[in-house]
Amino acid sequence: MAGHYIALEGIEGTGKSTVAERLAAHLSSTGRPSIVVREPGGTAAGEGIRALLLHGDHIEPWTEALLFAAQRAQLVAEVVRPALAAGTWVVSDRTVYSSLAYQGGGRSLGVETVRTVNAAGLLGTWPEMVILLELDPAVGLARQAIADRIGAEGVDFQRKVGETFAALAAMEPDVFRIVPADRALHEVVDAVISEVELKW
Ligand code: TYD
Repeated sequence: MAGHYIALEGIEGTGKSTVAERLAAHLSSTGRPSIVVREPGGTAAGEGIRALLLHGDHIEPWTEALLFAAQRAQLVAEVVRPALAAGTWVVSDRTVYSSLAYQGGGRSLGVETVRTVNAAGLLGTWPEMVILLELDPAVGLARQAIADRIGAEGVDFQRKVGETFAALAAMEPDVFRIVPADRALHEVVDAVISEVELKW
C-alpha cells in the first residue's frame, strides 16, 4: 500500500517542526512507517539551495520562487516519491503551499503562476492533506528564535502570507485542515493527529 503525503504549513513560529516530528512518531508507532522532510532542503542539492535562499544577499522575487521550486523538484524525486511508493508516509515541514503563500502572496508573484511553475517539477506528486497551523503574525514573529532572510521581512509581510494561506484553505477545503496554534503544543499535536486519523 502506498504512503500518504501530508503537509504542515503556516507562518513563522507556529511550531510546525515539532508538530511534524510528533505526528510522524505517532504514525510510526501505530504501524504506519513515516519520515519527516523539511523544505527548503532535505537533499544535498536542496541544502545548497537552502543556504542561498535563507542567507544569500540580494535575490530577486522570481529567482527566489524558482529556487524554492528547484529544491522541491529534487526533494520530491529523490526522497518523497520513492518513500510513498515504498508505503512510507511523508510528513513535510512546508511544501509547495509555502511557495504559493510566500512567493505567490507575500511577494505578489501570483498564486496561480507560482502553482504552475511548481507543478512542472512535481510531476503530479502533490500533498494530499495540508494542515495549516494558524497564529497571529505578531505572536509568531515574537516566538521565532533566529530570523533568516525571509523570516526577517516583518509583520506586514507575514500578515500577507497568512492571508494567502487562509485564501488557499478557502479555495481547497477538501485538502486543508485549519488547526489553531495559539495554545499548548501538546494540544496542537493532539488536534493534528485527530485530523489525520479522521481522514485515514
Ligand atoms: P526555515 O528555517 O525552514 O523556517 P521555518 O521554521 O519558518 O519553516 O525557513 C524557511 C523560510 O523560507 C521561511 O521563512 C519560509 C520560507 N519559505 C518560502 O518563502 N517559500 C517556500 O516555498 C518555502 C518552503 C519556505
